[in-house]
Amino acid sequence: MKRVSTTHLVKMKSLAEKIVMVTAYDYPTACLVDEAGVDVVLVGDSLGNVVLGYNTTLPVTLDDMIHHGKAVVRGVNRALVAVDMPFLTYQTGTGDALRNAGRILQETGAAAVKLEGGVSVCPQVRALVSAGIPVIGHLGLTPQSVHAFGGYKLQGRDEEAAERILSDAQALEHSGAFSIVLECIPEDLAEKITATISIPTVGIGAGVHCDGQVLVLHDLLGIAGNVKPRFVKQYAQVGKVIREAVKEYCREVREAKFPGPEHSFSSEVGVSEERGSEERAVPYSTATNKS
Ligand code: KIV
Repeated sequence: MKRVSTTHLVKMKSLAEKIVMVTAYDYPTACLVDEAGVDVVLVGDSLGNVVLGYNTTLPVTLDDMIHHGKAVVRGVNRALVAVDMPFLTYQTGTGDALRNAGRILQETGAAAVKLEGGVSVCPQVRALVSAGIPVIGHLGLTPQSVHAFGGYKLQGRDEEAAERILSDAQALEHSGAFSIVLECIPEDLAEKITATISIPTVGIGAGVHCDGQVLVLHDLLGIAGNVKPRFVKQYAQVGKVIREAVKEYCREVREAKFPGPEHSFSSEVGVSEERGSEERAVPYSTATNKS
């Protein structure tokens, strides 16, 4: 199976083929989304919100991203894996950006990094690209700047703000980014940016005219908490399925219905073989590990 590459993603734009990106943060979900056929698996720093329970992405560390990035890379065979650079791992200068992005690629095995911001981070983008590190930009509602925005709000509403985002996108393209995520901006602005630049745009809350779409896996699956942003479509209610399954497990344990004989081992000679004891003795589901 051929791996999706950065050049393949850029070519998809010229062929008007939509790019599908989704987040993942661990090995089993990485296997599942790759098997489902997505083009890009993003180890987003949204991991802070949906996996680690923070209110923002700001507390997420480089070590967190590397730890989860490694697990995701182990589960993906086809898609391109990109890892977010967390807060303050690149804003502080080109040296930090290079060292930290280098650690991400070297230690996780991912093929690209994503970082937030426009003109202000272009020196970092140029430094990474010169070192052979592919970069995805991220404009619009960039969550690492949530406090500067005064909350999670639509960006680029007035003409001046829209012009700034457009020129940021052009600056990122000229600095060598191979793609740009556009988050929570009006769809006509996303359409204009998509038509203006030659690298693919991937939208989240940016309308249908982007070259591709990205969603946070927990939002798409209906696992995440109570708040559902307007731009999210829930394709399943997995949270409900998990809650019901664990409720049933609680009930069966309390009523001594689980484990049944088929889940138990006997000391009688011959009986355990009949029940396939070797298979049952495999710890958890590690036997499915691909590597
Ligand atoms: O952190 C993340 O998951 C992201 C996507 C929402 C684009 O940046």
